[in-house]
Amino acid sequence: MAFERFKNLQLKNYNTFGIPSIAKELILINNIDDIFLAVNQEIFTHKHLIIGGGSNILLDGDYDGIVIKNNLKGKQVIHEDDDFVWVKAAGGEVWHELVMYCVDRNLGGIENLSLIPGTVGAAPMQNIGAYGVELTDVFETLEAIDILTGELKLFSKADCAFGYRTSVFKTNLKGRYIITAVTLKLSKHPLIKMQYGAIKDVLAAQQIDAPTIKDISNAVIAIRSSKLPDPKILGNAGSFFKNPEISSLQYGELKLVYPEMPGFPTQNNLTKVPAGWLIEQCGWKGKRIGNSGAHKDQALVLVNYGNATGQEIIALAEAIQQSVLEKFGITILPEVNLIS
Ligand code: EPU
Repeated sequence: MAFERFKNLQLKNYNTFGIPSIAKELILINNIDDIFLAVNQEIFTHKHLIIGGGSNILLDGDYDGIVIKNNLKGKQVIHEDDDFVWVKAAGGEVWHELVMYCVDRNLGGIENLSLIPGTVGAAPMQNIGAYGVELTDVFETLEAIDILTGELKLFSKADCAFGYRTSVFKTNLKGRYIITAVTLKLSKHPLIKMQYGAIKDVLAAQQIDAPTIKDISNAVIAIRSSKLPDPKILGNAGSFFKNPEISSLQYGELKLVYPEMPGFPTQNNLTKVPAGWLIEQCGWKGKRIGNSGAHKDQALVLVNYGNATGQEIIALAEAIQQSVLEKFGITILPEVNLIS
């Protein structure tokens, strides 16, 4: 038994930013036994990076370690009752294909998460979210293997400690587990979530007043395709920064100076401010520096015009952070994982 492995592999096609980087080695995990084999061979004791679709990473230079690509496939309905259906999908499945699988069967819950790049196994890591829905809303359990002991563990929703674009897999258990399968609880009587302004606008323009989940999915696909660059055409990793939360007091003070500043109260007297707005106000929207830039339709998305290195994107990100800090006194932090 052996896994597929490649030496000195170019990762340009393994990250949606399209950043060139040579990995010392890449191993494909095609089945669970590959993981046990890797544990036995102590692969994970070397410097390593586990990737799915490579849609939320920024590679800084060559990677002097072993890249392990989660390529586990399969999705199926595992249980149902009168109201719900439980769908289990392997970690290496493409997220959007799982969304389509559910939408086609009229199983509601993840249609608002259509077209998010990446894999099923990566989705819980950062609790993916868009248009008023987060993974946690439909999450039931996940299975993951401890890369040091080979033990398979079942995680409940509470175990995952989901937050805004975060989970235990980005904090306390960072780098410790490989997510092999995720089970979602979807509804046979979908509750349509269209409170998000842009979705309402698209449906109104199409004169749809009783939307199905397919309509919602199509609307989200239309919005995302119109605002977010397609990584196959223009390298990017979606939102580069998280939306910062500031004290509502600071927000109130800023609002006096910038009455147009959007803000959404969260918990504990905090207000979430769209980083895209802050970045645009600092003049970055559509601005290009060499091979990198902030996208013309969504300033939160940094793009690679073709030949950018990780360093160029990092330099741009730092310049953006600096100007947002100077103008607004707000620190914005990357959502994308920096890998060096
Ligand atoms: N805005 C600007 N200028 C910009 C971008 C945004 O003024 O260049 C303003 C918009 O006008 C709007 C507000 O900022 O008032 C929010 O913008 P948008 O609805 O596009 O959402 P976002 O906060 O920029 C978040 C997620 C996206 C997700 C969208 C839709 C984060 C970091 N990003 O973006 O997720 O698709 O909401 O729900 O939370 C991702 O994580 O990769 C991602 C794309």
